[in-house]
Amino acid sequence: MSEKLQAIRGMNDILPSQTGHWQQLEATAQRLLHGYGFGEIRLPLLEKTELFARSIGASTDIVEKEMYTFNDRNGDSLTLRPEGTASVVRAGIQQGLLHNSISKLWYCGPMFRHERPQKGRYRQFHQIGAECFGLPGPAIDAELILLTAQLWQELGLQGLELQINSLGDRQSRITYKAALVEYLQDYRDQLDADSLRRLETNPLRILDSKNQATQALLINAPSLLDFIDTESKQHFETLKALLDQQNLDYKVNDRLVRGLDYYNRTVFEWITTELGAQGTVCAGGRYDGLVEQLGGKPTTAVGFAMGEERLVELLHQLNEPAKPKHLQFISFDEQALPTILNLAQQCRHQLSGYRVEIDYQGGNLGKKLTRANKTGVDIVVIIGSDELAAETATVKYLRGQQPQQSVSQNQLIEFLTT
Ligand code: HAM
Repeated sequence: MSEKLQAIRGMNDILPSQTGHWQQLEATAQRLLHGYGFGEIRLPLLEKTELFARSIGASTDIVEKEMYTFNDRNGDSLTLRPEGTASVVRAGIQQGLLHNSISKLWYCGPMFRHERPQKGRYRQFHQIGAECFGLPGPAIDAELILLTAQLWQELGLQGLELQINSLGDRQSRITYKAALVEYLQDYRDQLDADSLRRLETNPLRILDSKNQATQALLINAPSLLDFIDTESKQHFETLKALLDQQNLDYKVNDRLVRGLDYYNRTVFEWITTELGAQGTVCAGGRYDGLVEQLGGKPTTAVGFAMGEERLVELLHQLNEPAKPKHLQFISFDEQALPTILNLAQQCRHQLSGYRVEIDYQGGNLGKKLTRANKTGVDIVVIIGSDELAAETATVKYLRGQQPQQSVSQNQLIEFLTT
């Protein structure tokens, strides 16, 4: 026998029993994003490899080892998008959305990274992201953070910690990098292979190391915040003041550097302790140089993306998704079918928030009721030969104490809605 076909490791089926929380998250996020003035943009899953290499950074984990890259039939190197920001910038430049105007765009969909799969980390995962172009001041950074805070509140998610930092401008990062490398030189023999490699390629990422021994070495390392330029410092101070004024708690984490190279100034992450090692549910920051770097006119930008799998897991721990009332029509008589279909169609058009189905399977009343009970039906409407003749319907409640009722067929909708 041939082996059963399986989905690719780290790429999950999302089943009807799970999609309720996805819909809850996406609908709530969509409503808020529109309320804050963002318009939806839908972008291709495939882009030229060069786009990601030039934006995310050649020495980042994503570009070095996690991208799904292949040559297509024309020999062009293409990559399944590992994130959304680079594509939004590419589209913004190509479609003329960024020039001389403020642009607020959001997106939602699958991203692909060849990471080691574990709880909360997948090879196909989903993000909801938002990007705002053309506003250099810290107020929009604050607005984006407040939007995400409102989303957690509306979803009922508690205990998420907001961490913020400023990376300053390009020059401050260059000066800081040199200071960090100099500090770490004294501890070279104590660094693991990964950090030793990063010391050469991308030293800031050492600050992110999960290795406890490395973290211990970093306790006395120079702080990025002591190296940032005056304007960036002022930007960061104003951001903090705006968040304070809105009573939003945050922690300044001077080790927060993010895994993508395009950031400057503000960076932030929302972190939960409920999901183990993969605790960042939303992350973002400012990337004022990227539009120009990708060939557009200089345009400031700031944005974030949230990981849907991680948020859905939190929602799952919190509650059952809301279910519509489930109504099922039952009959034993072939002749009742046209009447039943007619009534079911009336219900589908006129009862909002109901799931309406017809039982087409065999069996006696007992069997049909047991089956309805098992599949979560709330109300059955029975049309047997007596009901057919009398133009009535028997309404039976499978949950709660309401008694069975016989109602006239033309009053069924009214009966169900009162
Ligand atoms: P990121 O930190 O790479 O940033 O990803 C954002 C979020 O996506 C993470 O915090 C996490 O919740 C989720 N995520 C990332 N990788 C995985 C994975 N393998 N499995 C499950 N969830 C994952 C970005 O992608 C930036 N584009 C964010 C941004 C937008 N910055 C500015 N604008």
